Amino acid sequence: LFLFSMSFSKAQTIYNESEVPSFEVPDPLVTFKGKTIGTIGDWENVRRPELHTYFETKVYGKIPKNLKIDSYKILEQEDNALNGKANRRQVELTFKHNDKVLSFTILLYLPKKVENTAVFLGYNFYGNHTITEDESVLISTAWADNNEGFDIVNNTLTAASRGKRTHRWAIEKIIDAGYGLATIYYGEVDPDKDDFSDGIQSLLYSKNQKHPKADEWGSISAWAWGLSKAMDYFEKDPEIDAARVIAFGHSRLGKAALWAGANDKRFAGVISNNSGCGGAALSKRKFGETIGVINERFPHWFCTNFKEFNNKEETLAVDQHQLLALIAPRPLYIASAEEDRWADPKGEFLSALYASSVYELYGKKGINIMDMPVVNSPILNTVAYHIRTGKHDVTDYDWEQYIKWADTFLR
Ligand code: GCU
Repeated sequence: LFLFSMSFSKAQTIYNESEVPSFEVPDPLVTFKGKTIGTIGDWENVRRPELHTYFETKVYGKIPKNLKIDSYKILEQEDNALNGKANRRQVELTFKHNDKVLSFTILLYLPKKVENTAVFLGYNFYGNHTITEDESVLISTAWADNNEGFDIVNNTLTAASRGKRTHRWAIEKIIDAGYGLATIYYGEVDPDKDDFSDGIQSLLYSKNQKHPKADEWGSISAWAWGLSKAMDYFEKDPEIDAARVIAFGHSRLGKAALWAGANDKRFAGVISNNSGCGGAALSKRKFGETIGVINERFPHWFCTNFKEFNNKEETLAVDQHQLLALIAPRPLYIASAEEDRWADPKGEFLSALYASSVYELYGKKGINIMDMPVVNSPILNTVAYHIRTGKHDVTDYDWEQYIKWADTFLR
């Protein structure tokens, strides 16, 4: 997908700093009507709600109804997983509405030596069975995009891809540090295709509705919804400390993690790994992927209203630093990769920097340097940031920083 995107828009894509048109981003602490916000109360009662409504109705789309978990079922569990270090559990959550049913399965590893565990929660791209060699991990039957690299045939996941994504999930490091890991195959919540007849949206249509309304949820909102529903389950699970759950996501799933954190204050923190356009990166800075390109290639990700801004980023009343600000004062980690220019590392850094004034209003430490740090030198404040060497990916280096940072506020 990444290679495809490089060639797709080669002609217009800006990869040269000197070609980036000048841009202005709106101040998180000045309302749409021009009033300056100087107190936490005004931020929470005036500015935050108007920003949230804007992102909800113009960018990601509203979630029409707060659907509750209908039932959950422990499909499988084992007390001696990962060489005896962890408990493994596979929990299926089921949702019902308008005679339709949707289920998704959370794969959970919890360290045995810890009680009331803090957890990293994040989606995976190709099925729970790809994140580990563990033979007991069930293979999802949900739709998957055909991809030879992952042995997906006829849109069906297969055992041949077991363990193919272990390098993105530092399970041992996470467990050894005393954290749990929870993951879900994102295709179970909403298949990643421009088709609104399936996925969670289809349960909540009104009579004869076939597509979300212009201000209703696209796939990113649907995936964000799924993370919140996993949180609903965590609140019932005595082994998990639901007050210490960090939403994590890479790339499109990083966009979903950020939006989940903005919508749901129960998340103790959010990690955005290389989330790029429509995630952490500023939209008005037209470097790498742009709104027009993302909406054309992935018409189902954002709400229909977001298409108004194709090639008209300057007309947006918000920018992505304000999405980050919606997560304040909770800890937020934005990570970039040097070679991931499509995601605009500098736009991700500036976004974290420009969100920091809201964190400072709460007395929290945001990004306190004006220039990007050099590679592999993380800033581990309440707003954290790093750019590591290498490509668009999740690496052990990334997880080592996330754990170190989480230790500063979750221990
Ligand atoms: C594409 C897309 C990005 C997205 C990425 C991914 O490259 O253009 O916006 O982040 O896929 O999810 O891997």
